Amino acid sequence: METCTVVNALAQNLKARLFPPERRVLPNLNDFYELELAFYENLILDDEGLEQRGAYFASVNGKPTRHFLICTGNPLKLPDHSSSRLKSFFEKNIFRTGYGTHGLFPYRGKFHPQMIKGIINVMGLKPGETVLDPMMGSGTVSAEATLMGINSVGVDASPFCRFMTQTKIDALTMSLTRAKGALGNSEEVFEYFKGRVGMPLIGGKERRPAPTSEGMAAMETVAEYAMARDREKLTKEDRDTSDTYNFLLLAYLDSAGYAERSTRKAPLEQFRSILERYVFVAEKIQAVLKGVESELGQARILQGDARSLPLEDQSVHGIVFSPPYSFAVDYVKNDSFHLNFLGVDVQDLRTRMVGLRGGKLAEKFEFYKDDMNKVLAECGRVLRKNRFCAIIVGTNSNQLGKVLGLPPENVPGLHSVLAEMAEGHGFRLVKEMSRPITGLSNTMRREYILMLEKRG
Ligand SMILES: C[S@@+](CC[C@H](N)C(=O)[O-])C[C@H]1O[C@@H](n2cnc3c(N)ncnc32)[C@H](O)[C@@H]1O
Repeated sequence: METCTVVNALAQNLKARLFPPERRVLPNLNDFYELELAFYENLILDDEGLEQRGAYFASVNGKPTRHFLICTGNPLKLPDHSSSRLKSFFEKNIFRTGYGTHGLFPYRGKFHPQMIKGIINVMGLKPGETVLDPMMGSGTVSAEATLMGINSVGVDASPFCRFMTQTKIDALTMSLTRAKGALGNSEEVFEYFKGRVGMPLIGGKERRPAPTSEGMAAMETVAEYAMARDREKLTKEDRDTSDTYNFLLLAYLDSAGYAERSTRKAPLEQFRSILERYVFVAEKIQAVLKGVESELGQARILQGDARSLPLEDQSVHGIVFSPPYSFAVDYVKNDSFHLNFLGVDVQDLRTRMVGLRGGKLAEKFEFYKDDMNKVLAECGRVLRKNRFCAIIVGTNSNQLGKVLGLPPENVPGLHSVLAEMAEGHGFRLVKEMSRPITGLSNTMRREYILMLEKRG
């Protein structure tokens, strides 16, 4: 082959080489894994699919993609007192994190929604098929699948995750009339929830009953009914009532979380600005979805155990999830205020949480492997043959090295441990991608995306 001159080489445009001119990629495509996912999306999706579901493209044949429309417009509204560092992070990452109802609650360890969209596409999932997230957390997979017209099942051991995810999904379509009304009435709404939920102390458990407002108390009854039973059986009016109640409650719990961490703003003021942001976010996404609501996917949001899933054999077309790290975030402790309010026995929940069982690190790691083995066996059982399971997991070699008595550079990453385990449950590793973790304060530096195929 002829050697290229420097001038010739530098005259090449990498993106023009990788993608046809009628498919314009998004401006902020910087990381290698994003280029990889965009490359596969371009190979796998036809023009219509790319326009409706693509994650990394701005336009197809001159028509803006839905992802582009969802992300652009006014930037994400952050609370006024947010640091300039946080603001610039979200502005720069608007196509990755700051869109839809994904920003409604700051859950630790949440996915980049854009990456999830790309992964769902690369797994070959189509509208009408079903994707499962057996450890859904704040429900990024379900919310994203809904936007893509893909059905989903989301499962989490924590009842708070079930509540949060359901609320984020409902916010895509619910009537916002009463939530907007509550903005003009925020003091009364705040006082109502303060009476019901209590004010947070550090790790607080305080709960005061005695509702103060008739209207809110009536909403609460409907919302409780909806959370406990099949939402599909509610009348439209009751559903709106329940959606509005949950939306306001999530905003209150969110503000309570802030109050636990900082006293910079008075709690009422905090609540008002968070509710304002929630309404802004929901209005924005609903404006883009106007007229295409019937194309949205259906989401089933369940509380359950990933080690024994309430699903039939071979009933899902794809799985995407991120397990807890073996000794990272203590979700039960983090969410104790919200869990206490929901009346959850946190000690009992702890016994079902993967990554929290056991005492010393070494014992925790043994429990973790045992639990993850069960989760992967369940994934193998419920996934159809020749379909894909994507696992996203970070590795912290320093901690793992201490447990295994190895120097960090010799530690087999958690992703390798899980990939090997998955092989034992009928999976074959077909691709491994990795990305740097750029979150604000994270001890893990790299995250791996494992694409596993269920053997035929
Ligand atoms: C890393 S987080 C997932 C975050 C999620 N990907 C998101 O975007 O928000 C892991 C989740 O696993 C859940 N979990 C832990 N043990 C579980 C179990 N036995 N069954 C189901 N979920 C579990 C935790 O409650 C936590 O929400």
